[in-house]
Amino acid sequence: MKIILTGDRPTGKLHLGHYVGSLRERVRLQNSGEYDKIFIMIADAQALTDHAGTPAAVRENIFQVALDYLSVGLDPAKSTIFIQSQIPALFELTAYYMNIVTVSRLERNPTVKAEIAQKNFETSIPAGFLCYPVSQAADITAFDANIVPVGEDQAPMLEQTREIVRKMNELYGEVLVEPSIYLSSNETCRRLPGIDGKAKMSKTLGNCIYLSDDKDTVAAKVKEMYTDPLHIKVSDPGHVEGNVVFTYLDAFCEDKKTVAELKEHYQRGGLGDVKVKKFLLEVLEEILAPIRQRRAEYEAKPEEVMKILERGTQDANAKASEVLRRVKHGMHIDYFGSR
Ligand code: TRP
Repeated sequence: MKIILTGDRPTGKLHLGHYVGSLRERVRLQNSGEYDKIFIMIADAQALTDHAGTPAAVRENIFQVALDYLSVGLDPAKSTIFIQSQIPALFELTAYYMNIVTVSRLERNPTVKAEIAQKNFETSIPAGFLCYPVSQAADITAFDANIVPVGEDQAPMLEQTREIVRKMNELYGEVLVEPSIYLSSNETCRRLPGIDGKAKMSKTLGNCIYLSDDKDTVAAKVKEMYTDPLHIKVSDPGHVEGNVVFTYLDAFCEDKKTVAELKEHYQRGGLGDVKVKKFLLEVLEEILAPIRQRRAEYEAKPEEVMKILERGTQDANAKASEVLRRVKHGMHIDYFGSR
């Protein structure tokens, strides 16, 4: 069986970094027909580990993320889209995994470490936040997922999940499936820089182009995009490394030949930023226009979106309960028969 599980925290609308880092690949995998089952999780419980005080915002973002999913082409007939907090088995599994993970191991997780520093949590880390890699291991293993397509920043979570799986299997028999990370093959796509040239497109840094941005907003953002500060006159030779416009062309433009020609011309001198930006905008719009249109269609029928999530959640619950039963059996805590 080839089973995929992946997901996102509903902490905001999804942006181009999510698109090239993961969403585009998910749609490709979904449409390849090579996978037996695809689970896409909206990780609201994980979002609450550091947003406990704003549950209403998390709830609104669940809807926004669902719209983003549907608008990029995730198809509920092929992919099970569901809400994490509504799957009780995940919390039971998390509780058992907690016993085989040490606090020091959690404190060493590089992604969690970086987030703690970023959020100034050093002296007051919510326990749930420190432990979210354990709950993420539950998210993955509860569906017997063996393939997890995610961005590079999630590699430490996969690493830790694999450790948990091995330990559980060693203690309780072959109860869990060991997953592998699936990274985008396009290097540029694994960590898309923001429009300001900073290392990562991120909501907190305010350097995003959102999938839901309208055309004028995208045009304005492309216009202010960071290029080569030394490229002053059109005739000056320019740099393409660290030049966001070219990085985005690498990530989004399928016509590699044209990109190579543009780069060559830019480096030689005589090609202005305005022209390259105009081309980039066309490339982006070709991708974003259909996404925007599908988004508007679903936005107009919120009940249907909620129905999709409800059905997906039911489906996900059935699978996760089955895996939980198997694990509890292996742990000898199935006192009253199979239920
Ligand atoms: N940690 C992921 C993020 O920050 C979301 C997530 C939760 C996830 N559980 C997962 C991703 C399981 C992949 C698999 O976006």
